[in-house]
Amino acid sequence: MAKRDFLSIDDLSIEELGELLDRAAAIKDKPEAVVDALKGKQVALIFEKPSTRTRVSFEVAVTSMGGHPLILRGDELQIGRGETVADTGTVLSRFVDCIVIRTFGHDRLKELAAAATVPVVNALSDFSHPCQALADMQTIIEQKKDPAGLSLAYVGDGNNVAHSLMFVGTKLGMHVRIAAPEGHAPEAGVTQRCAEIGAETGGSVTVTNVVAEAVTGADVLYTDVWASMGQEAEAEHRQNVFKGYSVDRSALDLADGDAIVMHCLPAHRGEEISADAIDGPQSVVWDQAENRMHAQKALLEWLLA
Ligand code: CP
Ligand code: NVA
Repeated sequence: MAKRDFLSIDDLSIEELGELLDRAAAIKDKPEAVVDALKGKQVALIFEKPSTRTRVSFEVAVTSMGGHPLILRGDELQIGRGETVADTGTVLSRFVDCIVIRTFGHDRLKELAAAATVPVVNALSDFSHPCQALADMQTIIEQKKDPAGLSLAYVGDGNNVAHSLMFVGTKLGMHVRIAAPEGHAPEAGVTQRCAEIGAETGGSVTVTNVVAEAVTGADVLYTDVWASMGQEAEAEHRQNVFKGYSVDRSALDLADGDAIVMHCLPAHRGEEISADAIDGPQSVVWDQAENRMHAQKALLEWLLA
């Protein structure tokens, strides 16, 4: 059977996504069921950008499933000195059973996946963050049961996290509303593809630059940093551009009274999210972070076991 990669949520059919999320919940409930699932398996984890949650959740997931994680920093590998990602993928495939990589351009992921003969997992690229979206949806289901028909308002940069949320939300029939400043909307191709998915599932996607339009009546409020990794030089300029694109008291007042507050983390209190929102009773951000580990266990089992 051909190997499967996980570079985008759109690599999964709606059925596969549903099965993976069910399995993530079952594994969270009964982690002892998978203690041997990766016995004898070697998983390379390459990081070309910093990480706290992704690195630790994958390392713990692999270890607690009986596998062996190899944490590899990009600047300590030959890719840091110009060896191609394709050659790296070819070579690592001779040693390991799976390659998880956090990188910059999404094309690097695709090149690596094309060359590798083992499954490749996107641990965040400039384009998408599908492992985050799996954990996000696991969290939404825990809180709200059936996501179909619910509205999720994402406020801020139309970035990697926004793209993956759009895919996962529309695949499960949610109404995803993005509020982003002019020039920072999600990629048009993603919006178009998610509109097509929504037409099939009963979900939808809307993009506006008016925060109130997105958050009014929303069941889920979500935000992410104004400047992502790799955009450090733009960070100061972005402080002005994104002012007001925040999940804060005024967003909470407009949203549904039972709305949950989500953030992929790391967060900047006082910028994209207020302290009272992230640290308040409607916040589920710590469950979201924990669910990274459970969702990735389900993913690794599906790819490797
Ligand atoms: N949310 C997330 O991916 O966090 P890290 O950058 O810490 O891995
Ligand atoms: N959009 C952020 C997400 C971090 C988990 C970034 O790419 O830096």
